[in-house]
Amino acid sequence: MNNFQLQITKGIPSELPSPKKFDTKINHAPKRKDILNKDEKTLAIRNALRYFDKKHHKVLAKEFAGELNDYGRIYMYRFRPEYEMYARPIGEYPGKTNQAKAIMHMIQNNLSYAVAQHPHELITYGGNGAVFQNWAQYLLAMKYLSEMTEEQTLVMYSGHSMGLFPSHKNAPRVVVTNGMMIPNYSKQDDWERYNALGVTQYGQMTAGSYMYIGPQGIVHGTTITVLNAGRKIASHGEGLAGKLFVTSGLGGMSGAQPKAGNIAGCITVCAEINPKAVHTRHSQKWVDLAIKDLDELVNRVKKAKDNKEVISIAYQGNIVDVWEKFDEENIYIDLGSDQTSLHNPWAGGYYPVGTSFEKANELMATNPKLFKEKVQESLRRQTNAINKHTAKGTYFFDYGNAFLLEASRANADVYLDSDTFQNRKNPPKSRGAVGVREFAYASYVEDIMGPMCFDYGFGPFRWVCTSANPEDLAKTDAIAMEVLENLKKDSPKEIQQQLSDNIQWIKGAQENNLVVGSQARILYADAEGRIKIAEAFNLAIKNGHLSAPVVLGRDHHDVSGTDSPYRETANIYDGSQFTADMAIHNVIGDSFRGATWVSIHNGGGVGWGEVINGGFGMVLDGTVEASKRLKSMLFWDVNNGISRRNWARNKGSIFTIKRAMKMEPKLKITIPNLVDDNLLEGLF
Ligand SMILES: NC(=O)c1ccc[n+]([C@@H]2O[C@H](COP(=O)([O-])OP(=O)(O)OC[C@H]3O[C@@H](n4cnc5c(N)ncnc54)[C@H](O)[C@@H]3O)[C@@H](O)[C@H]2O)c1
Repeated sequence: MNNFQLQITKGIPSELPSPKKFDTKINHAPKRKDILNKDEKTLAIRNALRYFDKKHHKVLAKEFAGELNDYGRIYMYRFRPEYEMYARPIGEYPGKTNQAKAIMHMIQNNLSYAVAQHPHELITYGGNGAVFQNWAQYLLAMKYLSEMTEEQTLVMYSGHSMGLFPSHKNAPRVVVTNGMMIPNYSKQDDWERYNALGVTQYGQMTAGSYMYIGPQGIVHGTTITVLNAGRKIASHGEGLAGKLFVTSGLGGMSGAQPKAGNIAGCITVCAEINPKAVHTRHSQKWVDLAIKDLDELVNRVKKAKDNKEVISIAYQGNIVDVWEKFDEENIYIDLGSDQTSLHNPWAGGYYPVGTSFEKANELMATNPKLFKEKVQESLRRQTNAINKHTAKGTYFFDYGNAFLLEASRANADVYLDSDTFQNRKNPPKSRGAVGVREFAYASYVEDIMGPMCFDYGFGPFRWVCTSANPEDLAKTDAIAMEVLENLKKDSPKEIQQQLSDNIQWIKGAQENNLVVGSQARILYADAEGRIKIAEAFNLAIKNGHLSAPVVLGRDHHDVSGTDSPYRETANIYDGSQFTADMAIHNVIGDSFRGATWVSIHNGGGVGWGEVINGGFGMVLDGTVEASKRLKSMLFWDVNNGISRRNWARNKGSIFTIKRAMKMEPKLKITIPNLVDDNLLEGLF
């Protein structure tokens, strides 16, 4: 065994490693809220010390109390391993089963410096998306994985390894829960409190489930959104050439918009107030041009429209100025959205118009009340300008960033039943939301992702080559493309477009050069596509064409994995968007149909208490067993959500589940009877 392998098998060291200096060159998590009282702080220390031999308690108690005071959490920095953190080729991990070694590969990817947002605090993305709560938990989990057999299952409670339990070959090797709470204890401050106590964590979606693959997932999803938004506004099937997409944000996720606009073939104007963010995205070539002057922007956009150019332009300034200026100048906007971080409006997520970037940063700390007033005034102005554009025909959608929610809280004119919209020649129609006052604009899932992708079973399927060899990834790309091209020959017209888009994506995947971290690929596919691609990979492993096992997985932001009324299940209108049966069934069903690991989380994307999301990982090793497992589990993993969407009367899903029943006679799904609208009129 080499040193790395020895350290993994050792787990939590019996002798204390020397303390680690706080590395200021690394991006660190912000100091968390000081939420525990004195007794609770004592309990947090007692909890943390459970991982260590009594002889170390005196030293560590003091050290952990210092961490709790300084950072609001106990990360146990001293135990951060010395070896480099990255997804190694599977053969380099110690262990008794490839399934466990593949999971170690995925865990180390989520924590690697190239991938993780705050690597020393074990946060992969989203500011709080944790893989583990502290380094002792990491060391313990890796040790268990290195010694487990295929007759055991590792049980993970929010980063803590409860231990190895006897199970059987076809059981998951790991079962993960993150942040599962008694529902009444699922408010934001409950996360702060119980996370500080060391008994729960925010797993986001793919952080705590070891399935994150860097930024390519966002680029693919954003491209699909822009392309399909383009299709919604096409009057006779024309493409996006010469059409204008106006949006904002060049940050973590929002920075994918100009690249996606270019792939989709339109003119993109993306406003970003932070000069550093503009510079980063421009120097990475994720946006073609950066302009600081509004008049120059207007002229350049007019020229791009005249020449039907495919171009992306960063406007360094406030998005509100762009909406207002384009209205004054009568520049027609075809597509509009917003990706400022309005899920975090008072601490830097949204910058108010009329205040400089520097001044705003100062104001939010020195005079939060005035800052809030300015943000709300800015949101009202932005909404008024957007409303003027949509009156002229612009298609505007909310990008899951709480724009409409915060605008409504600022008393901006966003409600469907307001005079502004009802007095229009063609007022927007109700989408059938229950229990809430409906917005005039739809969200990207409600209008695009839901009805065009998820309802037909298309979602962010992904795979990782555990050889860590780019040649293997190129081979899997070629295999997947061949499978999709064959599928397209006999597929119904309803899904032809989806298949073409995905073939185009996989064709361009190599040259788009989007791999960061593990050798991973994302590809939207439906149940049939996922199964056939997986089967072809398994065969390629068996006959040696691929050099090592492949991990299958998906984002939790998918057809079946997530119940979230304002995002993934926003286009469910039978009232069940506020239930979480689908996500729970999904994880239970995946676990007994052959997943190598499963996870179920509270929180992720839209916030603690607002969503239940789950996912899986499956290791393909070229065996007959893997072939059986992939067919059984992937079929369920997609069709569970399709059956529920069908029961909610979603047209695409009624079509898709009927088709699935024809393909698999053992599938028998309850189909809803549709009711004539006029029959229900005047009943109450
Ligand atoms: N892309 C997706 O697939 C997706 C999906 C769901 C939700 N979202 C949401 O989109 C939002 C953005 O995500 P992110 O990771 O890019 O966040 P981020 O904070 O990294 O980026 C947002 C950017 O907006 C800029 N900004 C803020 N106010 C501005 C203003 N008035 N004018 C111009 N620029 C302004 C900020 O400077 C920042 O760079 C989040 O709320 C996220 O939850 C994105």
